[in-house]
Amino acid sequence: MSTANTAKLKEQFDAGLETRADFTIDQPMHRYGAVDHAVWKQLYTRQTALLEGRVCDEFLAGVRQLDLSADRVPSFDAINAQLTHATGWQIVAVPGLVPDRVFFEHLANRRFPVTWWMRRPDQLDYLQEPDCFHDLFGHVPLLINPVFADYIHAYGSAALAASDAGALPLLARLYWYTVEFGLIRDAASPNGVKIYGAGIVSSKGETLYSQLSDAPNRIGFDLERVMQTRYRIDTFQKTYFVIDDFAQLFDVAQTDFAPLLAKLAGEPALAAGDICETRDAGRIITRGTQEGWAIDGDV
Ligand SMILES: [Fe+2]
Repeated sequence: MSTANTAKLKEQFDAGLETRADFTIDQPMHRYGAVDHAVWKQLYTRQTALLEGRVCDEFLAGVRQLDLSADRVPSFDAINAQLTHATGWQIVAVPGLVPDRVFFEHLANRRFPVTWWMRRPDQLDYLQEPDCFHDLFGHVPLLINPVFADYIHAYGSAALAASDAGALPLLARLYWYTVEFGLIRDAASPNGVKIYGAGIVSSKGETLYSQLSDAPNRIGFDLERVMQTRYRIDTFQKTYFVIDDFAQLFDVAQTDFAPLLAKLAGEPALAAGDICETRDAGRIITRGTQEGWAIDGDV
């Protein structure tokens, strides 16, 4: 989510953008060309059509409320005019991935870092690092939802407190399996789930895979289980964790993380595709066929 990519940062520094100590920049609107706007329009149009009936209602409400432009890369200032009024959050432009501690400091202060640049036309379906479409279209619509807004704020505060305590891997898994790749129960939908995670919402392939494929496990959310489960950064997820509703995230946001992180610190992690029969009993929604799974490479 936030490990600094020095090559990309160097490219941005060399581009002459003035970067502040907190890694933010002014969104360089003059730097977006016709190709950038066309890529935004293509991705926006494709994903909003694909997500209809697949993504949770809160996400669609957020898109409508923010009034994101379909035709051009949106102005961050225009988004903040809506967002800050609604939930106290603002988005800040950054050159790319920022160091963990900087990232958590922003979240703990209700600032969400958004990469300013757009992917190229030959990268519509896959991009290794987050770009403006992932960060903005994927993440920002839920920041205008009060419950989700409080959840990410609480997460940032906990991660900041824990960032010197060696507990980051545990918290990184929580972010990954909720904010990036979370599913939410919906009885009327295929496999009983809809989508809310930004990594899914911003990806055509994983939108379809996470909801429709027989390959992955889908397991009801459990905080400790999630924090002990490794994940994939180079393939679709082997396991998705499914929240009952956003109120469940509200409860997570009330957690006193320090004692929980201390308790879990020395315990072994589960592989990304593991099912733990006793522990997961009663929460297994679908048991994956494992078709197409890579043998190793869990983070
Ligand atoms: Fe993300």
